[in-house]
Amino acid sequence: MDVREPDADVPVVSLSDGVVTLRPWSRDDARFMAEAFADPAIRRYNGAHDRLGRPAPPLSIEDAEAIIDEFASCWRAFGAAEPPSGVAFAITDAASGGLVGCCGVDDWSKGDVAQFGYWIGPGARGRGYATRAVVLLTRWLFELGAARAFLTVEADNEASAAVARRAGFVHEGTMRAHSVWQGKRIDVMWFAALPHEWTMRRPPVRSREGRDQSAGGLG
Ligand SMILES: CC(C)(COP(=O)(O)OP(=O)(O)OC[C@H]1O[C@@H](n2cnc3c(N)ncnc32)[C@H](O)[C@@H]1OP(=O)(O)O)[C@@H](O)C(=O)NCCC(=O)NCCS
Repeated sequence: MDVREPDADVPVVSLSDGVVTLRPWSRDDARFMAEAFADPAIRRYNGAHDRLGRPAPPLSIEDAEAIIDEFASCWRAFGAAEPPSGVAFAITDAASGGLVGCCGVDDWSKGDVAQFGYWIGPGARGRGYATRAVVLLTRWLFELGAARAFLTVEADNEASAAVARRAGFVHEGTMRAHSVWQGKRIDVMWFAALPHEWTMRRPPVRSREGRDQSAGGLG
């Protein structure tokens, strides 16, 4: 983990495995975020919904800037020794620096349980960026002292369940009718990892060339 402090109260945390680099969002990234949120799957699985499961309107660039400002205030709180609730990383290609997606900590409870989420822009899926980002984020959460890390996945979101499994998470159960989408109740799966068992079960991550690398050697 590389921690730089370009600004007295905004820590810049950068996590990398040499293929993917996670770094805090910048306002310059707002257009990428707004365009990503026009994607139906991101609006469905990551966007805001009303109580009947109707998605919020697509994000404007100003909306994306406001979200990025909110991430920055959470990073400032983290820099002031608060838990990393609400912090989010831009997922970038380590070689080119190009933006590919987002992962972040939705909540860090008083009991040191961390909930996180992620998305990958439609043009960058299917290349392993999400799995790598989840491995990096999870390792960081455990280094910070999380006793448990978990995510929830809507039962029809097979791509996301596959990411959770590939990243070494255990499907602990399914909450029936826990969510709503367009007026229809949706089952939601829980995936979780505990620090010790995750170290034992997390899978090797493939290199760009397709060779297996130990996740333990990342970053
Ligand atoms: C869910 C989502 C993040 C998954 O993205 P993804 O690109 O499929 O996931 P990964 O980055 O792990 O890539 C997996 C694919 O890359 C391949 N891959 C290549 N290199 C890989 C590597 N080093 N490690 C893992 N997978 C690799 C895998 O074989 C897999 O391909 P396959 O689908 O043909 O089996 C993406 O579909 C998305 O953003 N969806 C919309 C929003 C969403 O659902 N968010 C999650 C809410 S819970």
